[in-house]
Amino acid sequence: MRVVRRLKEIRQLSRTLARPISLVPTMGALHDGHLALVGRARNTVGRQGSVVATIFVNPTQFGPHEDFGRYPRPIRQDLARLRERDCDIVFAPKAEDMYSADSSVSIQENKLSLVLCGASRPGHFSGVCTVVAKLFNLVSPDFAVFGQKDFQQLAILRRMVRDLNFPVQLISHPIVREADGLALSSRNVYLSAVQRSEAPVVQRVLRAAATKITKGFRGVARLENWMHRSIEASPLAKVDYVSVVDPDTLERKASLRPPILLAAAVFFGSTRLIDNYLLEK
Ligand code: PAF
Repeated sequence: MRVVRRLKEIRQLSRTLARPISLVPTMGALHDGHLALVGRARNTVGRQGSVVATIFVNPTQFGPHEDFGRYPRPIRQDLARLRERDCDIVFAPKAEDMYSADSSVSIQENKLSLVLCGASRPGHFSGVCTVVAKLFNLVSPDFAVFGQKDFQQLAILRRMVRDLNFPVQLISHPIVREADGLALSSRNVYLSAVQRSEAPVVQRVLRAAATKITKGFRGVARLENWMHRSIEASPLAKVDYVSVVDPDTLERKASLRPPILLAAAVFFGSTRLIDNYLLEK
């Protein structure tokens, strides 16, 4: 496995890599969910193709009061994990190389970015789109693999690829969970023991809501209220949003007829966790 830090080097290297190339963009602090994305990338391109993972804690997707400074950066451990997973190239650039000091161009998605996480994290998805577009330009992948935990991110990136004609096929991979249902996230390490023990409530409530829908429960607002109350029945949970939306448009559903995405963001102390449940047609 080769570790590349320079932009010029990754650009040159990607021209010579065996195709197809599958890209797995990450911010590091890799857990089994990320490693599943790497496995998926390998399955997609086979033995002949190349898997490129990126590790970059992207400053432009963090708000001024968010956790950019304290975001975990266990780079040695991350590289060891990727080495075990049959990754060919790791691209881990420095922020000052990725963004020039007077950088003045960004990508803005103007619809799906305004709701759910976008409503409470202004600028976040512009930062994500911009860095992913840069990674696409640097690596020229045929495929790029993203996790479904960040469902909104995936939906927005699909729009970006469609609307800006990036020659990349996006692949989504299901959420990987702990035994008690908590979705794996690099931010789970921030949770205290008691917060950690309460956090699976989010997934339990989303799943219970999905069961209610399949049993004929009526009323979008009623269901959202029920989910909100049920999550906050856990003393440490504070709901940011819990919404019933269309999985393609992310618009609030008018009725509980699938396809439906149940999406939630919940604070445990200052740690904001997201999760979702997809009810297909
Ligand atoms: O999902 C993430 O970890 C990040 O948003 C991504 C896609 C690597 C862009 O920085």
